[in-house]
Amino acid sequence: MNATQFKKLKGSKKIIMLTCYDFSFASALEEAGVDALLVGDSLGNVVQGKETTLPVTLDQIIYHTEMVKRGAPNTFVVADMPFLSYQISVEEALRNCGLVMKETNCDAVKLEGGEEVAHLVRRLTEIGIPVMGHIGVTPQSAKLMGYGKRGKDISDAEYLKRSAKALYEAGAFSLVLENMAATLAKEITELVQIPTIGIGAGPECDGQVLVLHDFMGLTKDRPPFAKPYFDLRAELKKAVSSYKNDVEQGKL
Ligand code: KIV
Ligand code: NA
Repeated sequence: MNATQFKKLKGSKKIIMLTCYDFSFASALEEAGVDALLVGDSLGNVVQGKETTLPVTLDQIIYHTEMVKRGAPNTFVVADMPFLSYQISVEEALRNCGLVMKETNCDAVKLEGGEEVAHLVRRLTEIGIPVMGHIGVTPQSAKLMGYGKRGKDISDAEYLKRSAKALYEAGAFSLVLENMAATLAKEITELVQIPTIGIGAGPECDGQVLVLHDFMGLTKDRPPFAKPYFDLRAELKKAVSSYKNDVEQGKL
């Protein structure tokens, strides 16, 4: 599947997306039939244990995306561009996004921001790099904006709608809508002819994405909108205790 085909999923099926950071999970998730995997810079939080996504480097995203694509060669894999890899200039954005495409065999990149990054999306798309946009809560600007739900007041809702339209018109093939009012996410989904992928943005998006570790019930402090589908922490406790029994009883 290429990004143009991905775009056409809008209206034909709900898109199922999860984040992923390594080969083994990628392989299992491909087998489980997800539509797309995101190598998110949430890497900083759930893999590295950092407080924000800001410390994640381009080299780390390349390292993890390359292994995810190797584990899921037939799945649409999106690499998340880390803080400072695309904000400085169009030249740096082209070079860094291009490097990620060259080194990882991924299918697209994602970058955070609204109408103010539309010019980047246009240039990247012009040279053949598919871009997924990301608006609403954007963790790379959490020090400025926080993590609180977006689109609550009219001026913010207008900004987000303008941004969705600008990114769509600049050539973005899809948009992540993070932690925004469900009614606004629905409006945006109707406004653009590309799939919207929601996280904490209500059920009317064209697809949904969850952070893998939240989805598995591994993270201790997940956001309220991240529904766990498994209690991996509890399962690990049980498994370790039964392993302990086997070891103590000489069964291994
Ligand atoms: O980094 C990430 O995991 C993300 C998703 C939450 C959309 O950007
Ligand atoms: Na991210």
